[in-house]
Amino acid sequence: MRKLILLLASALVVSTASPASAESPSTVVRGIVDTTRSGPILSRHLQGQFAEHLGGGIYDGVWVGPDSAIPNTRGIRKDVAAALKAIRVPVVRWPGGCFADIYHWRDGIGPAAKRPVRKNDWWGGLESNAFGTHEYFDFVEQIGAQSYVAINMATSTPSEMREWMNYITSSSADTIANERRANGRKEPWKLGFVGIGNEAWGCGGAQVAEAFADDYRRFSTFLHRNGSTFHMHNDNAALRVASGANNDDTKWTDLLLAKAGPMMDAISLHYYTVYDGKWEHRDMAPATGFPAEHWNHILYQAWRMDEVLRAHEVVMDKHDPQKRIGLFVDEWGTWYAPEKGTEPGYLFQQNSLRDALVAASTLNIFHAHADRVRMANIAQAVNVLQAMILTDGARMAKTPTYYAFQLYVPFQDATALPLSLQSPQIASGNHRFPALTASAARSKDGKIWIALSNADATQGYRVVLDGVAARKVSGQVLTAAKMDAHNVPGQVEQVTPQPFRGASLSGQRLTLEVPAKAVVVVSLSD
Ligand code: AHR
Repeated sequence: MRKLILLLASALVVSTASPASAESPSTVVRGIVDTTRSGPILSRHLQGQFAEHLGGGIYDGVWVGPDSAIPNTRGIRKDVAAALKAIRVPVVRWPGGCFADIYHWRDGIGPAAKRPVRKNDWWGGLESNAFGTHEYFDFVEQIGAQSYVAINMATSTPSEMREWMNYITSSSADTIANERRANGRKEPWKLGFVGIGNEAWGCGGAQVAEAFADDYRRFSTFLHRNGSTFHMHNDNAALRVASGANNDDTKWTDLLLAKAGPMMDAISLHYYTVYDGKWEHRDMAPATGFPAEHWNHILYQAWRMDEVLRAHEVVMDKHDPQKRIGLFVDEWGTWYAPEKGTEPGYLFQQNSLRDALVAASTLNIFHAHADRVRMANIAQAVNVLQAMILTDGARMAKTPTYYAFQLYVPFQDATALPLSLQSPQIASGNHRFPALTASAARSKDGKIWIALSNADATQGYRVVLDGVAARKVSGQVLTAAKMDAHNVPGQVEQVTPQPFRGASLSGQRLTLEVPAKAVVVVSLSD
């Protein structure tokens, strides 16, 4: 099915996108939308988020405490919660990342004043444990998201995991459930997903795949998931996500599926967009004020998500042709040099129009792989890496990435429609990648939605799509004059969606005048 909706990228035009050149007249690009056939459901979880105890990701970003002068609901920032709710964040992965493997859940329950203060050995600073299990579930309930808890596998035991799972999900009168009740929560919480391990090949214990597969089987057995063999009577019905590969390490996926495939519901994949594709070169790319050639360079690295997914899918199809096991890209996004004057371990970076293009083109790639890719969690929600939101004291800015996600909300749980598009190609060094990526889908209310990202920094395109029968079209565009236009807390936002006036309909033909470096989303109706 993926092939049906995959974009046909052929080299009609190769643009080196020198940002100094004047914008040339639109070039026509043709495509077809097949509204008579359906592709897979585009799971809302593809727009998931990740929030780790790292820098300002939780403290200041989400949690300010009930006594803060910053408006809050039981300690959770009202402005941030409202902004995340508005983009219908479907799921939040927590508490890490690398932090998950040094986190002991008992540190984060009970009276706040009695909780231990620990060193955050991965990212620096002190962990107050003010934000723990109750606060996390309060947060996801406030924003209407599902929960995705990553357990500590590397410095903990199946026993500690079991107790945490029971604390969260037990509906009986056992001692752990009663402890939860005594701490203020009568009913169990709904646990959506459990991550078993995080980057087990790296910060999660530097394990080889064989050893991790054994450990995974052991932890997975004692997760006591309701629905799995022998565990029909348990309260925990969360889906099990095995710690998966880094980037294009398909050997990891192959071995894990061979050894433990039947004991997992999904396997994860982490892919970050970094300078040169090398994590150790991440500091060579600033988030803003970058040289013009970095535009294509970064967008090419983001486009590589497509080939990385294909490689893992080949392996997964071999072990699981029925596609029972999902591929969850539960960490992705841009990773630049930290902002000057900030603590490097806090991974605080600005977020520009270029990040909006990375976000939109990546969501289009996920849509093209939606028969296997059923969750993705951008890193991270607030103040860390490619964030939705940046805070500065009481002030907050929605980033260009936030607005790209906002434009894509109608794609949540919509049904993909096959779309082919002959995209021009852009050059980045010896590499080529498509200027245009696109998605088409039908939402539950019957509307057709089309999204286009144009990564070409200087060239707008007239996109002519056939096969669309509708009478009305309206939409929004996200763009700016400068490649690194960005939003700063407390200042007028420079990058926000605007009404899109470049769409017209004629018979079954939709024409879209897509500007350079822009994201366009339109809806069609009768
Ligand atoms: O998102 C920051 C870090 O990146 C996460 O903690 C880790 O899993 C990954 O290496």
